[in-house]
Amino acid sequence: MMPSRFQSYKSFFKQLTLAVVLLTTLPILMGAKKEYTVPVEGLDSALRKPHRIPIKRMFPDKPKFATLKKSPDRTYTMDRPKPLKRQTWWTIPKELKNKAFACQFNKQHVIVVDKEKGGALVAQWMIDQLNEREARNLPTTFGLATGSSPIPVYENLVKAFREQKFKTDNLSTINLDEYIGLEPGDSNSYKQFMRQHLIADLELTDDQFHIFDSQAQSENDPEIQRLQKLLTQNPRHFQLLGIGENGHIGFNEPDDTLSAETPTRIVKLTESTRKANAPYFGGDTTKVPTHARTLGPKDILHAERIVVLAWGEKKKAAIANSILGPIKPQVPASLLQKHLNVVWVMDAEAAATLFKQGGRVTREMARQFPTLFQTPEK
Ligand code: GLP
Repeated sequence: MMPSRFQSYKSFFKQLTLAVVLLTTLPILMGAKKEYTVPVEGLDSALRKPHRIPIKRMFPDKPKFATLKKSPDRTYTMDRPKPLKRQTWWTIPKELKNKAFACQFNKQHVIVVDKEKGGALVAQWMIDQLNEREARNLPTTFGLATGSSPIPVYENLVKAFREQKFKTDNLSTINLDEYIGLEPGDSNSYKQFMRQHLIADLELTDDQFHIFDSQAQSENDPEIQRLQKLLTQNPRHFQLLGIGENGHIGFNEPDDTLSAETPTRIVKLTESTRKANAPYFGGDTTKVPTHARTLGPKDILHAERIVVLAWGEKKKAAIANSILGPIKPQVPASLLQKHLNVVWVMDAEAAATLFKQGGRVTREMARQFPTLFQTPEK
């Protein structure tokens, strides 16, 4: 007997449903069984709860949670990755209502606030994180930056330390970068900069404050290995960053080969960066060293939380390219799009191009920053 038209439709739909179910569940089932084996040196010290950590610490572009199984050969096996949600760990205190604006661009958190209040805000986040860890008896490591951008943060940290708002016994710091070829006591070295602006006032000892040496390099640069080891032993809970006018972070200059996997290394500085930093060397670009040691994007992205600071109009193009533009080696800070916990803190001038291109301005922002957001006269 010939099947009725209705019956053939029915079997066709049955087969279609089966195919859809198979096509959608098979990859999931296969994915769930998939295991990654990762040799991670020093992970022991990084793991408080040894069985569950965000994979992003190791692979920033794979934002998943994993269960880790330790093998005798000190490798870890991860299985059943689960999606990790973007976290909102920062808060804006009530007193900054209408003075600090939080918004999102291209899934990145951006806070527009003036430099003074921004410095206080970021210092408070750092203190909160430090105190919260201190209460649980855990050590904290901050990744720190130099340049003019972090100065308001450091001023607020010093003030709060004098007011005994936090202790530094369990704090250690690792700096991003250092020039090569300066004498140890040179006032232009980043080591001296840090001592002058923060380290001495926070009463941090040499065992707590880590930075590359500014001496010239030798063959197998032991300095890179020394800092690399420190980074592994002291996973950073917070990383402070500035951004260069050409979009550099640390001393990772625009370059065709830069990627999220680029390691900590020696780099040649671009002429534009040497020129931008010349004011610290009496305005003489020739006195600015030609090379530096810097944490690579790979290590920068391993920090748990990242805050990027940008003040002033000179940063507006770099900011817009880094946040809105595609991730590309010619804009090093665009690599930060790969990290889930980045907050960009900037003033209205640095945000100008971002807002023009992204175009989301609240009435409150327009009121607070009238010159920036005024509507053109008709
Ligand atoms: C230097 C530093 C960077 C810093 C940049 C911006 O090149 N190596 O870490 O972010 O300057 O400096 P500033 O904050 O002074 O604009």
